[in-house]
Amino acid sequence: MEKSLVLIKPDAIKRNITGAIINRFEQRGLKIVALRMLHMDEALAKRHYAVHQGKPFFDGLVKYITSSPTIAIVFEGNNAIELIRKTMGATDPVKAEKGTIRADFGVDIQNNTVHGSDSPENAAKEIIIFFAEKEIFNY
Ligand code: RTP
Ligand code: MG
Repeated sequence: MEKSLVLIKPDAIKRNITGAIINRFEQRGLKIVALRMLHMDEALAKRHYAVHQGKPFFDGLVKYITSSPTIAIVFEGNNAIELIRKTMGATDPVKAEKGTIRADFGVDIQNNTVHGSDSPENAAKEIIIFFAEKEIFNY
């Protein structure tokens, strides 16, 4: 079983659509094994999005992701990483396939509602940013 980190981003939190988003993942058979709400500070945002440091959208991204609380979730399932990315859709909601979270709820390329880890290496790195080992359940 694979694990992946999902963030429900500020645009979704502010629009009260958290339940609808969690539902999309659960409908695909993904199981919640850890969950917390937190307001990311600048240091945490920069650590989480370290691969994008230096890109033109980086400062805006850090400002956006720290603009309200977020909800961090670890989902577990078969091929969880790929399944989550497919359920989310392309980064830009305009380009995301119909029926994906970003196509249905995303506002624009920055306010795109969810984050999902993009590889096993990044999933492992991201999960430990948000959760201690004892906060991740095995059931
Ligand atoms: P994420 O990491 O959040 O799951 O998104 P992603 O893999 O689909 O996209 P990525 O390239 O990793 O970009 C991370 C986040 O940065 C914002 N972004 N803004 N203004 C822009 O051109 C731009 N490009 C990316 C988005 O919030 C994107 O999800
Ligand atoms: Mg990414």
